[in-house]
Amino acid sequence: MNETNKRKFPSWPQFGEEEKAALMDVYDQNRLAFSNAKDWQTKGTARISLEEEFARFHDCKFGIAVTSGTAALMVALRAVGVEKGDEVIVQSYMCIADTEAIIQAGAVPVFCDIDPANCGLNLESVEACITAKTKAIIAIHFGGYMIDMDRLSAIAEKHNVKIVEDASLATGSVWNGRKVGSSSLITIFSFGTDKLLTVGEGGIVITNDAALADKCQSLRNSGNYARIDDSLAENRALAEFTDIEQIGWNFRMPEAPAALGLVGLHKLPLQIQKRHENGRYLDQKLSAIEGLQPLVCSESQTLQSQGLYIFKINEKLFGCDKESFIKRMNAEGIPALYGYHNPIYKYSVFRKENAYKHIFHKYAEAACSQCVWFSHSILLGSKDDMDAIAAAARKIKCEIGGCK
Ligand SMILES: Cc1ncc(COP(=O)(O)O)c(C=O)c1O
Repeated sequence: MNETNKRKFPSWPQFGEEEKAALMDVYDQNRLAFSNAKDWQTKGTARISLEEEFARFHDCKFGIAVTSGTAALMVALRAVGVEKGDEVIVQSYMCIADTEAIIQAGAVPVFCDIDPANCGLNLESVEACITAKTKAIIAIHFGGYMIDMDRLSAIAEKHNVKIVEDASLATGSVWNGRKVGSSSLITIFSFGTDKLLTVGEGGIVITNDAALADKCQSLRNSGNYARIDDSLAENRALAEFTDIEQIGWNFRMPEAPAALGLVGLHKLPLQIQKRHENGRYLDQKLSAIEGLQPLVCSESQTLQSQGLYIFKINEKLFGCDKESFIKRMNAEGIPALYGYHNPIYKYSVFRKENAYKHIFHKYAEAACSQCVWFSHSILLGSKDDMDAIAAAARKIKCEIGGCK
């Protein structure tokens, strides 16, 4: 065994004594969840603190914590008015969650291609997908590599289409001095096990729009009336059980995950800074190797929280394909990941439908065969760890005869 494959990269999640104490506090106070009108606005609950602090961390006014990122998407899509028969645009190089949320809203997912530079929305492809039925676009900052929301917003405004921002992989990222989500209508985050802020399973919607926040509160709370505005506090108990204005879900986040989320949120700024710095360092190291090309972190993005670190392998220039590269990296003790094998439209559930049978997205297909991923926890390692990743890639290139 050589030096690299003895190396221990940081694992995830990194729970310790603080998380244990937060969970014990929930247990000691015998408060697992809040569900009735008086309780769900009780100040001092972990869920409400998480909602307030997470929203504030993103320079937003309101947060609505839910049980998963998918639940957050379902709430956000309904809140912006997506209904049966509407079309919603989503990129095809992506996990299935966003597409499922669209379908659960009764709408039709319309797949668009990605931008090869950052694996986010390809704006030309977005415009080509817009029809009279388009109600919304889901804007994903894939791997945390932020897309230009100003350009996307201009397109959305021109066509009178809403944007739901999915920043699940970009928590705390900054673009031209603005926190992700701070200038958007509505933004969602996943707090799943592998996410930058994890509570096990969970998610949140943030917005600056009070009416939209109210609607989200109600949707995640089985359609119950649930105002954020404290001046209505006295009416709340009365309002409970008196009326349901819309059909929602029980997506209420319980106290234990919220308590974990609060601890994680306090640790986040230092982690994000470290990931950003290691990410840019690794960019330099890997781009110096012929045939490897990191995704582009835009100059406008001053903080990249790196929900994933991604680089591309060019089979011809590097000398081997992605699959054998990953196997060799893993044998060197470097936990490189394959990522998606196929764009979403190739899954059998969509192949059956005519509308999806003939789609071919050249950039999404290329990403499947070229993009290599690292979990964000790898970027919590030392500079020496980053050097070891680059050294292993260089070693592989030499072994297959590609060294100059
Ligand atoms: C960008 C993005 N959005 C949404 C989701 C769905 O989140 P969850 O798994 O919490 O439902 C994920 C999950 O991997 C994701 O990566």
